[in-house]
Order: sequence, then C-alpha cells, then structure tokens
Amino acid sequence: MSITSKPFGQTPDGKQVDIFTLTNKNGLVAQITNFGGIVTSLSVPDRDGKMADVVLGFDDLDGYVNEHPYFGALIGRIGNRVAKGKFTLEGKEYTLAINNGPNHLHGGLKGYDKVVWKAQPIETADGPSLRLMYVSPDGEEGYPGTLTCGVTYTLTNDNTLKIEYDAVTDKATPINLTQHSYFNLAGHNSGDILSHEAMINADNFTPTDETLIPTGEIWAVEGTPMDFRTFAEIGARIDSSYEQIKFGGGYDHNWVLNNKDGKLALAASFYEKTSGRLMEVLTTEPGVQFYVGNFLDGSNVGKGGAVYNYRNGFCAEAQHFPDSPNQPGFPTTILQPGQTYKQTTAYRFSIK
Ligand code: GLA
Repeated sequence: MSITSKPFGQTPDGKQVDIFTLTNKNGLVAQITNFGGIVTSLSVPDRDGKMADVVLGFDDLDGYVNEHPYFGALIGRIGNRVAKGKFTLEGKEYTLAINNGPNHLHGGLKGYDKVVWKAQPIETADGPSLRLMYVSPDGEEGYPGTLTCGVTYTLTNDNTLKIEYDAVTDKATPINLTQHSYFNLAGHNSGDILSHEAMINADNFTPTDETLIPTGEIWAVEGTPMDFRTFAEIGARIDSSYEQIKFGGGYDHNWVLNNKDGKLALAASFYEKTSGRLMEVLTTEPGVQFYVGNFLDGSNVGKGGAVYNYRNGFCAEAQHFPDSPNQPGFPTTILQPGQTYKQTTAYRFSIK
C-alpha cells in the first residue's frame, strides 16, 4: 500500500497542482488531484481479477480547468440547484450566480471543483489517505461566511473509497458538499450504463419542476419508474411518458434515503453483470442525487481519447436535498458558527 505524488500542471492563474496515486493492499488504485479534489481514475478488479478504470475523466489538467460536467469533482458550497440563485438567511437575501437555466448549480461559476485545495498525503492503518483543505472566503460566489473545509479521501484495504467531509464557518451559511464522480462499472470507455442494475434504499423521492427544482413535496416511489427498492436495470423504465423522467431528461433526481439517523448506512448499490463489479454507496446523508449522464453528448473527449456519449456514466451524489435553503420542509443545510459540518460517503467495491 502506498501514496505517491507528482506534478499535474499549473492552473491558468499560475498555481502548481499535483496528482496523488493511492494504492491499497489489494492493488486498487485511485488517482486524485488537489485541483477541485477530483478523482481522476479509480481502478478496480472484475470477477477475473482484471482491473479497469471505472470513472470518467481526462488525462490532463487542462480537461478539468476547461468547462466540463464536473467529472470526479468535489462540489460546494452547495451541491445541486438553488432556485433562481436566491435564498434568504436570518432576514438577509443572498444572490448567487445563475449558471443552469434560471437556477444556480453546484456552487456557481467557480465552485470547489475549480479551486486548488491544500493537500497532505497520510498513510493510515486503513489504507492510503489524502487530506484536502480549502478556505472559502466570506462572500465567495455570493455565499456568507468564511468556510474552512476539509475532505479526507481514503482508499481502504477493504476496497472502499471513503470520503469524509468536515467544515466550520464564522457566519451562518448553507452548505451541501458532495462528490460528482461518474461511474461506468464496465470501464470508463464502455458505452452507456443502461444495462447496469441499480438499487436505491429509498421509499420516497423529491419531485421537481421542469427546471429540476424540487416542488417541496415528497412522493412515494411505489408504482413509478423511480422505484429502485429492489435491483432494476437503469434503462428498463426510462420513459418520458412519466413526467418526472421527462423533466430530468432521464433520472436526475434526489431520492429520500430510508436511513435518517445520520449514521453511515447503505444508500444504493450498482451492479454490472458482464464484469461482475458491484459498487455499494454508503452515506450519512439524507439524500442521493442519482443522475445518469443525460447531458453527456460526446463533446467531452476524455482519457485515452474516450468519447463520453449520452448516458455513458452515472453519478450517485450523496447530499442533502436540492434547493434546501428555500425549502423549509427539507432537512436543514444551515451551518452556524461553533458547529461542525460532517458527512461521510463511501463507495465500496466487490464482485458478485
Ligand atoms: C447534477 C445535476 C445534473 C447535472 C449534473 C452535471 O447531477 O443534478 O442535472 O447538472 O450534475 O452536468
């Protein structure tokens, strides 16, 4: 087991960026850059022990500096959408960038996916670990308060990519951090993910309007194409005669996880039968945004020249619910001075 680093290039404003290679005792390999805290590759075995890189991404820093759909990145200060880029907190209205139709998405024009994090490699008994730190100044992208964030990635010896987040603030602020890796368990360059099977441990989801802002209601998945309480093929029921699927252009929704006690629990599982790879997602968060790459259109040329087409990857973004700052009925995302934000999400790999 080891963690090594090498230079990954320079940002347009001249900051040096590194890429870290984490290898666990079973030979799984994760590569992570401190630009955006991006997981650039993740190699895991199939049922014959053959390794494949199961996350979409680019070969070099330029790919990540340029506009791209958040491949592998850490997302903050607020993951997903804020309606019309506005919210009111303690009597004051805040205005955020509108960067997705009429709404704010994934922290704004320069979110945590585009900043340089301070990196510290650590060897732990559980496996190689990378501690990332970022201090988001008061007012950055319109958000109140200086937010000091830490994210620790560990590639554990039981074949899990574990992500532990923590943050403190000096003023009340909304916060909803997440990780935006796109997975294809057959390998990042293996076409669409529609024949993967998915299970989501959720009886309910949050329906949205046509701009993907939650209506505030909580709907049962039962009897709808959103029902993944038992394993189902992702592609089997993507049918735009169901209005929610039409609005999302496919699955692009927040599932309300059954686990509500804030302890790490199974949120979702994904299985790819030709390789036998199984990925389980565990989280302390109340929601998971399951997004199936509906906006991928072949315009991103990634690692080894791979062209990422429509639905060639899926994301399982563990987080609080979208637009929480405007939804009094949703679990709060407000962090107060003196409190510590914490979340843990783990992607656990095995074969079946
Ligand atoms: C999230 C959103 C999607 C899309 C992707 C990035 O998953 O819910 O609608 O914005 O990020 O392309």
